[in-house]
Amino acid sequence: MFTPLILPNGSRLPNRLAKAALEENLADEGQLPGPALWRLYRHWGIGGAGLIITGNVMIDGRAMTGPGGVVLEQDTPLEAFKTWAAASRQEGAQVWMQLSHPGRQVMANMGGNAWAPSAIPMAMGKYSKAFAQPEAMSEAQIAEVIARFAASAHAAEKAGFTGVQIHAAHGYLISQFLSPLANRRSDRWGGELANRARLLLEVVRAVRQRVSPDFCVAVKLNSADFQRGGFSPDEARQVLLMLNELPVDLVELSGGSYESPAMQGEAADDSTLAREAYFLTFARDLAAVARMPVMTTGGIARPSVAQRVLNSGVAVVGIATAMAEIPDLPRRWQTGEAPHALPAPVKWRDKTLTLLARMALIKRRMYALSRDRTRNVRYSPLWSLLIDRWRTRRTLRRYHAWLRQR
Ligand SMILES: Cc1cc2nc3c(=O)[nH]c(=O)nc-3n(C[C@H](O)[C@H](O)[C@H](O)COP(=O)(O)O)c2cc1C
Repeated sequence: MFTPLILPNGSRLPNRLAKAALEENLADEGQLPGPALWRLYRHWGIGGAGLIITGNVMIDGRAMTGPGGVVLEQDTPLEAFKTWAAASRQEGAQVWMQLSHPGRQVMANMGGNAWAPSAIPMAMGKYSKAFAQPEAMSEAQIAEVIARFAASAHAAEKAGFTGVQIHAAHGYLISQFLSPLANRRSDRWGGELANRARLLLEVVRAVRQRVSPDFCVAVKLNSADFQRGGFSPDEARQVLLMLNELPVDLVELSGGSYESPAMQGEAADDSTLAREAYFLTFARDLAAVARMPVMTTGGIARPSVAQRVLNSGVAVVGIATAMAEIPDLPRRWQTGEAPHALPAPVKWRDKTLTLLARMALIKRRMYALSRDRTRNVRYSPLWSLLIDRWRTRRTLRRYHAWLRQR
């Protein structure tokens, strides 16, 4: 766990434990990082993880996963981003910015765009109407998205981040292109897997061209969508073989989407995921054929599980929830401590509300850390959900004002 890892571009992770991406919803005025994010990342920066991956940063302010998100575009001022990167790097960790476009996974009340491979709405039962009606993208819009990923990566490097992670998992835009359920195009961006994977590969190439060779370029990929007829484990393997041909420094394996939240351990196609290290079997198989190091994230909160992941040939252990609960978890593990690092369990009848409550618990922890409140309090899931709804409504008004004024 605590041995360094040299990545394909020659750069070095000081150890094998990574803080995986967690959307913070803590952007300041102008959708920029501010004191709340700086303080939160100072906690992670001294927490002992060798790699810190930010929550998803939006490459287009008109397409956001939530109103409290950070936006980094070509002309965004970089000062606040420099402080954010420096806070994370204070003890030598690498800090990678996760770049994302949500595609059709956008709430209807956000406004802005819901660009997608095809005009297929989200299938979320009684919650489907809460999502925006997607619009099938034109060639020009696809070209714009590729250019935006590259511009944001370039800006992240200028701001002092040591890498970017391209978000191609969890049902966001690139993951929608990969999925045969969401992508019904008949042009060169749809149909056979080589076409569905084209957007991901083009984004990786465009990003690589705009950044220095020692700047890391990583990808977060689903090991499967866990939906009948969706992106399958075999397709994930083929996409990994395609990525093998490109200068990619690390692939993180996760799974699922809003429709099938396997990343939270819940698969819609009745697959059984492991109780801890959900994607370990997939990650082990893929690590065996990957030219770059593989990381897996999902369900890992104990040092013995992390060690089992590494023993199976996976190079890096991704930890999200447990790093919000205890931001210096790697440091504690290194000194032999193994504290309980999971929030209160939630299992309500309504699966969607259960997931929202689980996320709200973690966002509340991040909010507390952003106020330097480090005491590990056991929050009520219901209260956390209500607080989250209230905060979202408030930030939504601010986001709408920002969007209008642009
Ligand atoms: C509140 C919250 C926000 C998340 N935000 C992101 C994100 O911005 N990008 C991402 O790739 N994954 C995101 N995830 C998923 C995590 O990175 C991770 O894949 C998942 O939580 C499983 O890992 P864990 O069991 O260690 O939490 C988020 C998860 C939660 C709970």
